[in-house]
Amino acid sequence: MELVIKDEGMTAIQLNQDVNPYMQGNFRPVQEEVTEFELEVLGDIPKELNGRYLRNGPNPFAEVPNNHHWFIGAGMVHGIRLFDGEAKWYRNRYVGSRELSKFRQQEDITGRNWNNSSGGPNTNVAGFAGKTWAMVEAGGSPVELDYELETIGRNNFDGTLPGAFTAHPKVDPASGEMHAMVYAWPQWLDHVQYVVVATNGQVRKTLDIPLPGMTMMHDMSLTEKYVIIYDQPVIVDMNLLEKSNFPFAWNPDYGNRVGLLPRQGTANDIVWVDVPLGYAFHPMNAFDNDDGSVTIDLCNYEKMFNTDLSGPFGDGLPRLERWNVNPDSRSISINIIDERANEFPRHLHDVGGQPYRYGYSVSISADPADGWQTLKHDLQSGETMVFDHGSGRAGGEAVFVPKQASNEEDAGYLMTFVHDLNNDSAEFVVIDAQNFSRGYVAQVKVPRRIPFGFHGNWVSDESVAPS
Ligand SMILES: [Fe+2]
Repeated sequence: MELVIKDEGMTAIQLNQDVNPYMQGNFRPVQEEVTEFELEVLGDIPKELNGRYLRNGPNPFAEVPNNHHWFIGAGMVHGIRLFDGEAKWYRNRYVGSRELSKFRQQEDITGRNWNNSSGGPNTNVAGFAGKTWAMVEAGGSPVELDYELETIGRNNFDGTLPGAFTAHPKVDPASGEMHAMVYAWPQWLDHVQYVVVATNGQVRKTLDIPLPGMTMMHDMSLTEKYVIIYDQPVIVDMNLLEKSNFPFAWNPDYGNRVGLLPRQGTANDIVWVDVPLGYAFHPMNAFDNDDGSVTIDLCNYEKMFNTDLSGPFGDGLPRLERWNVNPDSRSISINIIDERANEFPRHLHDVGGQPYRYGYSVSISADPADGWQTLKHDLQSGETMVFDHGSGRAGGEAVFVPKQASNEEDAGYLMTFVHDLNNDSAEFVVIDAQNFSRGYVAQVKVPRRIPFGFHGNWVSDESVAPS
């Protein structure tokens, strides 16, 4: 069935709703950039939360093919500004790119575009080195945003980044440095690159890592001893570009392995350990054990992009697993933490790469109308607590922000957007991570529908000052 969506705004998007689930319902894009001040709040926003909650996601602005992939499309950042117990504004802004500039009949945005990428970062947004960064994997340069989410331009870390970047860097809690494992196609088909960005926002180290093929290396892990590399069986196939705008697919012949790169090591020092076939977009956390083994908690799919080449949910959903990887015996043991679907894992930033007790995730379902709940996993007791957002209400990635007055690992707030499919609306919500039964600490009414998106972060005013 042909369907024409006419959200007010720049253009009307033609799509075929029988073919592509990622252009329907709350996956479909919005087309206006909105600014709203003094938002309606239910409950009380904690006064210690001064900064911005930001989240990035794909938001195509022009016609897309029927086999369009959810991961493709212009980035749009949605943000809520909190200050002194009030929700000061909501903004949504496209992330600048060559294709958006062309569409708007404007000059291309500034900054080096190392691979001449047409798209803009659509996957994550974070504060680092006093700046706000929109990020994407596989080649596109980071784009710097101002405090009000307007694009400043591409920023290759002041010209120090030689090539690609990623949407999932890990900031080391001990050093404050940002570590990234990056891939690119079609430029790099036989290696990835490990990148370390110093606290001054400039790259201080790169290391090329040869691979037998070009895997979709979405994320990484970092422990005190190791950088962890996920070399998984979702492989670039340039022939797919003839029928899709996304050239990655399941290839079990590639095998599946984890690489343990000593932090100061070279590519020759990597210990590769074969693991069962599967695909994980996101590790929850990883840490070293006294016996030399490494624990990795991750949301693992049995297959990815096997029959569904439009998005991640058509070939099954991920469960939360704990891996124990032994570099001496090159062996792995696996325990299931939670059989239900778990995605978008998070934890307290300061326990990154350390033994930890609490992890947070989203219990997704293939149909968001079933509701997406926020989960809190007590990895010590084995208990999982569920924050149910209600029928037809889908919570997104829950960002954990610690309370200033406590050192307990779970003393803090979870914040996310909730998409209410009952009335096509959205809320920004704050949850007390130690007290789910309390309900929402605060609900901020967003004056627009917000499409489902990917990742975001709380960017405090201390880390990126208001302009
Ligand atoms: Fe991701």
